[in-house]
Amino acid sequence: MLIDIVAGARPNFMKIAPIIRAIETRQSQGSALKYRLVHTGQHYDARMSGDFFTQLGIPRPHVHLEVGSGTQAEQTAGIMIGYEKLLLQEKSNLCLVVGDVTSTMACAIAAQKLCVLVAHVEAGIRSGDWTMPEEINRMVTDSITNFFFTTSEVANDNLRRSGVSNDRILFVGNTMIDTLLTNQSRFTKPEFFDFLKLKSREYFVVTLHRPANVDRGDSFSRLLLAISSSARDMPVVFPIHPRAAKTLRNLGELPANIHIVDPQPYLEFNYLVQHAKAVITDSGGVSEETTVMGIPCMTLRDSTERPETVTMGTNELLGIDPGALATAFEKLFAGRWERGSIPPLWDGKTGERIVTHLERLLVLN
Ligand code: UD1
Repeated sequence: MLIDIVAGARPNFMKIAPIIRAIETRQSQGSALKYRLVHTGQHYDARMSGDFFTQLGIPRPHVHLEVGSGTQAEQTAGIMIGYEKLLLQEKSNLCLVVGDVTSTMACAIAAQKLCVLVAHVEAGIRSGDWTMPEEINRMVTDSITNFFFTTSEVANDNLRRSGVSNDRILFVGNTMIDTLLTNQSRFTKPEFFDFLKLKSREYFVVTLHRPANVDRGDSFSRLLLAISSSARDMPVVFPIHPRAAKTLRNLGELPANIHIVDPQPYLEFNYLVQHAKAVITDSGGVSEETTVMGIPCMTLRDSTERPETVTMGTNELLGIDPGALATAFEKLFAGRWERGSIPPLWDGKTGERIVTHLERLLVLN
C-alpha cells in the first residue's frame, strides 16, 4: 500500500513530520504501509523549507516538483502538472495532503481526477473569508476529499453541515501540536537573543505575511508604528517573511525597538515564542502553538478558521485596524489576558491516530 505525503510550504512541514514518524514506527513493527514524500517546491529557500526538514528529522523527499514562485494559478497549474505526471508513472493508493496551502489543493485535484483516494489532514476548518487563498484551498480540497482528519469539533460540525457523513470524519487532533510537544525540550536560543539583550517575558514576537497586512507600504508602516508604541519600549522581534520583506525594503527607517531578523528555523522560532511576553501575528498555526504554550496571542485578522484558539486558548482577534492594538496591550500589561486551556486531543499522539486509521481504511477501500 503506497501513500503519497504531499508538502509544499513552510506550515506543511511540521504537520507531516509526526505522520512520517508514525509510519516508520509501524513499518519497523512489520506494517506493509509505504510512503512517498512529494515536495512541490512551493517554498524553496533553505530558511523557508530546508532548515525545517533538517531540524524536524524529515527524510529527503522522494520526489521534488520544483514549482517555485508564481501567481496562484501558475503555482496551482505547475503543481498539478508535475504531480499528475508522477501519478501516471506510478500510481499511489492514497494521496495525503495537509493544511490549506496551494500545494494541498493542487495535489488533491490531480489525485482525485486519477481516482486516487484523498485524505486531508486539518480538514473542515473555515474562516468564511473568501479573500484569503487559503479559504478557497480548504473549500476545494474538502469538496473532493474521501477521508477528513480533523483538529476540532467545530471542524467536524462544518463538515457535517456540508453533507459529509460521520464515517468519513476522523477526529484525531492536531499534528502541528505533536511536533511542538516532541521538540519542546530542544527549542534553541537564537544567536541574536543575547546580542539584542532580550530577557524572558520582556519582549514581543511579531509574524506578519498576509497580503491585507503587508502588501501595502502605508498600512504596513502604520501597523509597525502602532506595535512599536503599544510595546512601551520593550523590544519587538520580527522574523520577516519574504512577502513582508519586499514591502519593507521601501519603508525607510523603522522605530528603534523593532528588530527585523531572518525567517527563523523551527527550534529557534518557538524558543522565541515560548519566552515572549506576547505574540502579534496573522498566522493561524502560530495561534495554535501559543495556545498550547500559554503565551498571549494577538491576531491581526478579522476572522479565524481556528475559533478554539479564541474560545479556549490565549488568542484574541483584533482585526486589521492598528487602533485595536493599544487597548489589547493595555489589557496585557494590566495582567488581564486569558490564560486559556488546551483543546481536546491536542496531546502529541495525532500522528499515530492518523496512521492507525490509514491502515484500516486502505484495507477496506
Ligand atoms: C504561503 C501559504 C500560506 C502560508 C505561508 C507561510 C498559500 C496560498 N499560502 O503563503 O498559507 O501561511 O505560505 O509561509 O499557499 N518566497 C521566497 N522564498 C520561498 C518561498 C516564497 O522568497 O521559499 C517568496 C515568493 O517568491 C513570493 C512570496 O515569498 O514572492 C510569497 O510566497 P508564496 O508561496 O506565494 O506564498 P506565501 O505568502 O508564503
